[in-house]
Amino acid sequence: MADMAEQPSTSIEQPSTPVEQPSTSEELSPMEARRLKLLHPLESSILPPEKLEYVRQIIDKDKAIKPFWVNKYKNEAAKNWDRFYKRNETRFYKDRHWIEREFTIYKGTSNNTDNDGTEGPTTMNCLEVGCGVGNFIFPVLEKNPHLFMYACDFAPRAIELVKEHEDYRQGRCQAFVCDLTKDPLTDTIPAGSLDVVSSIFVLSAIPAEKLESAVKNIAQVMKPGGMLCFRDYAIYDAAQVKFSSNPGHMLDTNLYVRQDGTMSHFFSAEQVRDLFEKEGFSTVECDYVHRETINRAMEMSIDRRFLQAKFIKQ
Ligand SMILES: C[S@@+](CC[C@H](N)C(=O)[O-])C[C@H]1O[C@@H](n2cnc3c(N)ncnc32)[C@H](O)[C@@H]1O
Repeated sequence: MADMAEQPSTSIEQPSTPVEQPSTSEELSPMEARRLKLLHPLESSILPPEKLEYVRQIIDKDKAIKPFWVNKYKNEAAKNWDRFYKRNETRFYKDRHWIEREFTIYKGTSNNTDNDGTEGPTTMNCLEVGCGVGNFIFPVLEKNPHLFMYACDFAPRAIELVKEHEDYRQGRCQAFVCDLTKDPLTDTIPAGSLDVVSSIFVLSAIPAEKLESAVKNIAQVMKPGGMLCFRDYAIYDAAQVKFSSNPGHMLDTNLYVRQDGTMSHFFSAEQVRDLFEKEGFSTVECDYVHRETINRAMEMSIDRRFLQAKFIKQ
């Protein structure tokens, strides 16, 4: 896997329990963190303003690589993710049990009118966009028998792996290949039919100029009142600093390429809020989440920054 890899199974995408983790490719080693002056004593683990200013300076100095390469990475995104799954299969990400803890909506039921006109709890229809190999869908389906889960990804190998999973069952889930930025989700999912959509570290893989079409596409299949659950990288995250301090990775403002050709964008809360509100969503919450990677031996921590949000389709 590439040096700047997406957070692997040991990563900090497990919000409720910051734990000691081995240094992984996208995380900074204590040595790198020390070089970047991002390592600090445990008691001051949330980036203080002077550190943020320091981080901003590193990022502002970075420059985009040549347009030829920028276009190549953007055009070959699906191919590069597919290669990622061919290489890593199901070994890379850990099951994401934490999503359900953070987004409690999955425990509920939809109270819509059934087809026969009677009121009452019905199946909750959900979609996970950019589902990867299903590290979220299978745990959530197991615990919540009232859910039906669509799952899509533009990497065909990822979808094959979802379909090969021992818990993949017709009637509970349907996985399909779809590039959110250009393939209408309505080809597979009835328009206006979904109660919940989750987007977990997915929109960061899409260049800014294509985000609007992706969100429009998602909006088409959601019910009015349906909820979109979002979590992704936030600006000034330690991984962004790592990209910017090794020039040659920047494609655009806040967009970087890993060594394996996959991309990662770092969002501000304003950008994400504007993106969804423009497409007819209202914001329930959209907040920065700070997590620390702890090196207990050194009694030091490195801060990670994510954005977590909930939007309601109007
Ligand atoms: C960082 S992985 C996250 C996977 C999964 N959501 C998880 O949390 O384990 C990003 C995923 O988004 C998918 N992806 C990126 N751009 C996409 C697009 N335009 N349409 C559909 N899927 C996309 C990638 O193939 C990859 O599986």
